[in-house]
Amino acid sequence: MSEEPEQNKTQVEPEETTVGNYFVANYPPFHFWDKGTARHLEELLSQPAQVETPLGVYFHIPFCRKRCHFCYFRVYTERSAGEIQRYLDAGMQELGRYASAPFINGRKPRFVYFGGGTPSYLSVNQLRSLTDRMKELLPWDQVEEVTFEAEPGTLNEAKLHAIRELGVTRLSLGVENFDSHILEINGRAHRADEIQRAYKAARSAGFPQINVDLISGMVEETEENWRENVRKLIEMDPDCVTIYQMEVPYNTGIFKQMKAEGKLVAPVANWATKRAWTGYAFDELEKAGYTVTSGYTAVKNPEKTKFVYRDSLWKGADLIGAGVSAFSHIGGVHFQNITEIEQYIETVFAGNLPVLRAMATTPEERLIRELILQLKLGRVEAAYFADKFSTHLLHRFGEQWKELECKGLGRWSGGVFELTREALLKVDSLLHPFFLPQHQNSRYA
Ligand SMILES: C[S@@+](CC[C@H](N)C(=O)[O-])C[C@H]1O[C@@H](n2cnc3c(N)ncnc32)[C@H](O)[C@@H]1O
Ligand code: SF4
Repeated sequence: MSEEPEQNKTQVEPEETTVGNYFVANYPPFHFWDKGTARHLEELLSQPAQVETPLGVYFHIPFCRKRCHFCYFRVYTERSAGEIQRYLDAGMQELGRYASAPFINGRKPRFVYFGGGTPSYLSVNQLRSLTDRMKELLPWDQVEEVTFEAEPGTLNEAKLHAIRELGVTRLSLGVENFDSHILEINGRAHRADEIQRAYKAARSAGFPQINVDLISGMVEETEENWRENVRKLIEMDPDCVTIYQMEVPYNTGIFKQMKAEGKLVAPVANWATKRAWTGYAFDELEKAGYTVTSGYTAVKNPEKTKFVYRDSLWKGADLIGAGVSAFSHIGGVHFQNITEIEQYIETVFAGNLPVLRAMATTPEERLIRELILQLKLGRVEAAYFADKFSTHLLHRFGEQWKELECKGLGRWSGGVFELTREALLKVDSLLHPFFLPQHQNSRYA
């Protein structure tokens, strides 16, 4: 725990990329989610529904063709069709528990997200039967968005048409880089030609929105390669672009290699370079008519291209997260599922909720959670927080705003705090001063 004066200081980022999580995905940090259990979830689910809170469903598909060297998600490779089916059956049994609970019963999801791992690793038949069962449990007739993550090498025309027919509205392609050598050296299963093929087929399948993920700072990335990536990206013309800055968490292949070689610095660009590359991409995208809508995203048409999942979650929606290691946020309580597949399946088949850890948040923690997540969009509105939390943001976080303003990282104007582009590019390092003292300097694992 840090000393008192440290609490309100902006975190000083080591410029080299060292091991650890940089991205702030939630609040309070996961490290503190060990106070609750499945029993807490059972109690919560037995209460009457809060119909006014929007509801979403996330389903985790933890299978991939290959494990990328930088990946920190829970994924499994080389699983048989039978093993995959057993997992999907467990997932639907888990979802069924939620669907029949008083807290959820009668509510209809507004958004659905298939994440991973690689949802597109599943066959068309597996996907059809999975989505049919999901729709029976929680009907999709009020769903505004269905997101589906896909690795380009797993797609073909027939599969993409089938995915579109299932109701997917937002296809998210894990392109990462357009150069086959960089893809290979980073352990990706796909190559450059597969990207173009998948994108063309996805366009012809008629998805309302296609997002492309890139990572700035992959192993062996150079300035020249990055500029070429941005050129190809703009030429491709997707509706939405997401750029992550490479981080190297403990459970990655890159860190294992570093440990074996006794190295402390990861063999990727430093943070200043990754920020500069993302900034360059944002500048070029803006010249091409895109609008930057968060520290990681740019969209071609902000009126048309929404991201309902992100925007709902960052405004406190309920999310049922089903599947191994999935995260839920229901009735103000955080839950994470068991992170090992066999244990997850056995727990569900034994009739239990597969909760690993949980944390009931206080109203103040929920306020901070929404504040830091919405700051990632580059702007927060005082009126929203006054209405929802009866809190005057300017007064409650006076010190924090002052520090950001003094450093030229943002300012208040007309009831809105707006971050500068420089601040937006390093937004995750600016959020910690808003944390409660007991959550300062914690790790995100
Ligand atoms: C679950 S994956 C997307 C779907 C699919 N599995 C794929 O990789 O094509 C989610 C995204 O997280 C990002 N990602 C994974 N590991 C990362 C890391 N260490 N640093 C930054 N971004 C990372 C990648 O951009 C990836 O597309
Ligand atoms: S980045 Fe995507 S494809 Fe690669 S291991 Fe992670 S989830 Fe699988």
